[in-house]
Amino acid sequence: MKRIVFATNNAHKLAEVKAVLGSDYELVTLKEVDITEDIPETGATLDENASIKAQYVYSRTGLDCFADDTGLEVEALDGAPGVRSARYATDGHDFAANNRKLLRELEGKTNRKARFRTVISLIRNGVEQQVEGIVEGRIATQEAGCGGFGYDPLFVPEGKDVTFAEMSAEEKNAISHRGRAVAALVKIL
Ligand code: IMP
Repeated sequence: MKRIVFATNNAHKLAEVKAVLGSDYELVTLKEVDITEDIPETGATLDENASIKAQYVYSRTGLDCFADDTGLEVEALDGAPGVRSARYATDGHDFAANNRKLLRELEGKTNRKARFRTVISLIRNGVEQQVEGIVEGRIATQEAGCGGFGYDPLFVPEGKDVTFAEMSAEEKNAISHRGRAVAALVKIL
């Protein structure tokens, strides 16, 4: 089994990525390589942030690693919250406040088109490569479901009539931005 560091301590993400990556890889978290501080996410784009995080882990550990950065891009809001998705309403990761703000910003708007985009930076043998995964959809007018995390109760993927939060983890992974980005990652690994 090959070891690879995934630059996260988020249990939801870890489980999602494990399910797609299968049993060929032993996923190692930040805690397990003694990185306990927050890695600065100072990039202006998802691509920059994914790269900053992966390079940080590589410089600290010298191990093969990957980092992801995800944003929800809402068409009527010119791509917001985008790279600021985690800190849309507050400085912290307050999912409930973010969802309330998103509903407020979209009040009265008929265009509710949105997409999730995940960028993954992989560093293998010191060489960096990027892949991305996108899922198109729309923002519902009220929250539904209690699965997943973040904007899941508001995001209805294209071709479905339920939110990500109403789907099983398997259903979400099969079509999600992160599922698709990880599938692209597996292809190049
Ligand atoms: P991160 O870059 O993966 O940490 O994602 C940034 C923010 O995007 C998170 O704090 C969530 O608000 C949101 N987000 C990322 N992935 C998902 C998802 O799969 N569902 C819902 N929201 C997500």
